[in-house]
Amino acid sequence: MSRNTLITEPLQIPPLETVQGHILHDQKRFPGASGEFSWLLSGITLATKMIQAKIRRAGLTDILGATDDVNPQGEVQQKLDVYANQVILQCLSFRESIGILASEENERPLTLPQRTGQGKYAVIFDPLDGSSNIDVNVSVGTTFSVLRRPETSSNDDVASWLLQPGCKQVAAGYVVYGSSTMLVYSVGNGVHGFTLDPAIGSYILSHPNIRIPEQGKYYSLNEANLADSPAGYTRFVERLRSGGLGQRYSSRYIGSMVADFHRTLLKGGIFLYPPTTEHPDGKLRLLYEANPVAFIAEQAGGLATDGTQRILDLQPTSVHQRTPLIVGSPVEMAEVERCLRATGGTSS
Ligand code: AHG
Ligand code: MN
Ligand code: MN
Repeated sequence: MSRNTLITEPLQIPPLETVQGHILHDQKRFPGASGEFSWLLSGITLATKMIQAKIRRAGLTDILGATDDVNPQGEVQQKLDVYANQVILQCLSFRESIGILASEENERPLTLPQRTGQGKYAVIFDPLDGSSNIDVNVSVGTTFSVLRRPETSSNDDVASWLLQPGCKQVAAGYVVYGSSTMLVYSVGNGVHGFTLDPAIGSYILSHPNIRIPEQGKYYSLNEANLADSPAGYTRFVERLRSGGLGQRYSSRYIGSMVADFHRTLLKGGIFLYPPTTEHPDGKLRLLYEANPVAFIAEQAGGLATDGTQRILDLQPTSVHQRTPLIVGSPVEMAEVERCLRATGGTSS
C-alpha cells in the first residue's frame, strides 16, 4: 500500500486530563504567567497528596489527637493541623512566585526571607478544616486563596497585598478528604473537580465545569445555634421545613465547612454559619474559609453573602477576621435574603 492511501479514523477516546495539564491550559489567562502559576498550584497538589496519605493512615500512626498548643484563634491545635500546616508551608515556600504565606495556624503572615521584595502571589490557607472531625474519621478539608500583589503596593506593604476583597482572588479552591480525595478549584473561568487516583498519585479531571443546581434539597447549619441567631434564620429554616419552597428538604451537617460546602456545590441547597451569641461576627474566617468558598460558589452559578453583603465585596481589615457565611443555590439564597429582610435580621 503506498504512503498516501493510509485510511485514518478519528480518535474516540476522551483525553485523560490531569490537574497539571488543566492548570497549564488555564494559566493562559494569566499574561506573563510563564508557568509560574501552574508551578504554584502544583505546590498545593503536592502538599495535599502528603496530607491525604497521613489522613488515610491516621489510626495507625501517632497523628490523631491534640497538641498542647493553641492556634491564633485560641483553638487547641490537633496534631494533623500542625502536620498539614508544616507540609503546605514547606511545599509552597519552594515556589519562587510566592512572596507571602498566611495560614489559619500562624498568627502573622510569613514572608520568605530568601525572596524579600520578590514574589507576585500571596497564598492564604486553612491547612486542615474541620479539625474536630479528624479523630472520628469524618471528612475534613484544606482551603486556599491566591492573591496577586497589587501593582501599586510596595514590596513590604503586606496589608495592601493580603487585605484585598475576595473579588480580587486570582485563584481559589479546596481539597476535600472524603470517601475519595478531590481538588476543586477555579481561576475565574468556571469550577473544575479532580479526583486523586492514589494508585498513580495524580489528580485526574473527574468533574469538569461544575455548576451548582438552581435549587437543592439539603440545608446545612448547626441547628443547636439557631435560637442564638437573628430571627430571620429561624424563619428561613421553618419555610424550608414547611415545604414553603415547593419541596421537602433534608438537614445535613457534617461540621467541616469544606465537606458541607462540597455537598452543597454538587447537590444544591444551602450552607449557613450565621452570627450567634458566641460568634456575633460569625465563626468562619473571611480570608481563608469564606472567600475561597464564595469564589467557587459564584464561579459555579451560586451566591455567597454574610447575610447582608456579597462575601467577595467585603473589605478585610485583619488576616483572621471572622464573618457570617451563607452560601448556596440561587433559590435558597433568595429565600434566606427575603426572610432576613422581613425580620430585619440583616446586619445592615
Ligand atoms: P477549623 O477546623 O479549620 O477550625 O474549621 C472548623 C469550622 C468549619 O469547618 C465548620 O463549618 C465549623 O467550624 C463548625 O463549627 P461548629 O462546630 O460550631 O458547628
Ligand atoms: Mn476551617
Ligand atoms: Mn483549620
